[in-house]
Amino acid sequence: MKIKDIEVGKLFLAPMAGVSDIGFRKVCKSYGADLTYVEMINCNALLHNNEHTKKLLETADNEDIKVVQIFGHDPELMAQAVKSPLLEKFDIIDINFGCPAQKIVKNGDGSALLKNLELLGKICKSCTSATNKPVTAKIRIGFNKNDNVAVDVAKICEANGISAITVHGRTREQMYSGSVDYDTIKKVKQSVKIPVIGNGDVVDEKSLNKMLETGVDGVMIGRGALGRPWIFSELKNKKGVIDKFEAIKNHVDTLRKYYTDEELCVTLRKHFLWYVRDVSGASKFRLKLATTENLDESLNLLKQIFEEDKKQ
Ligand SMILES: Cc1cc2nc3c(=O)[nH]c(=O)nc-3n(C[C@H](O)[C@H](O)[C@H](O)COP(=O)(O)O)c2cc1C
Repeated sequence: MKIKDIEVGKLFLAPMAGVSDIGFRKVCKSYGADLTYVEMINCNALLHNNEHTKKLLETADNEDIKVVQIFGHDPELMAQAVKSPLLEKFDIIDINFGCPAQKIVKNGDGSALLKNLELLGKICKSCTSATNKPVTAKIRIGFNKNDNVAVDVAKICEANGISAITVHGRTREQMYSGSVDYDTIKKVKQSVKIPVIGNGDVVDEKSLNKMLETGVDGVMIGRGALGRPWIFSELKNKKGVIDKFEAIKNHVDTLRKYYTDEELCVTLRKHFLWYVRDVSGASKFRLKLATTENLDESLNLLKQIFEEDKKQ
């Protein structure tokens, strides 16, 4: 598939705030993710040059195509953000029209824009006019259950210069539950010429094929990659032994360049628990893993868990 003039493969890692950090993205890339995104960044933060944002914008050396996602509701500020020197190194800029979180929606950002399509169109126009780079959009199919606007939104995005659209096949109201609306994703694909990326509940070959049956050009995987960054090589049928502890070590070592062990000990806990979720002998270590205050101790525990698992 081509996003404007950039050739990309089919399997993307979803942007996930607080989760798809530089270390996780690097590991997913090493296992074959074709595109990885820096998580959503507030357009206002880009205009204020803050240090936390700068760290979030770091990219891994194997991220050959760099994508950042931004959010906001003011077309002028969004255009300024697109032109920010902080985004200079990025190849693709994605706009978030899907975030369901209350704190985002109450500001009129993310999925709230699915209720104001005129403004959504203006944001697309101002962002695409501010750069020659491809600007893409990520949407949900609507805000409320009975308010499916996906095809309208896709057409508006295309008419305003957006180069590709990702559709998470749920409404805002559904949050992360209920089933994915494959029919709507299929209709979106049939209504626009720009590439369409299908998203929602892809966790294995069966669910990947179900998504591909809609005719989408690419597939984005979020929660299915948590604790399983190797899902990309599995779905691409790449042979080879996966050293799970080595993957975790790479994840951690990459982050250690940017964050202290104290910071990482807390922020990485959720990842560590995801990594051992399917390891049968891990239960006796879980509490310790969830509470330890020392990163090296966490790594030693993980090493032990995976060594024991290998013996079984
Ligand atoms: C913890 C978490 C954080 C997320 N953060 C973002 C985000 O920053 N931007 C975004 O567009 N979507 C975000 N999402 C939504 C995912 O990108 C994706 O659309 C959603 O999880 C559905 O895909 P899945 O079923 O493969 O997980 C987030 C999801 C999760 C679980």
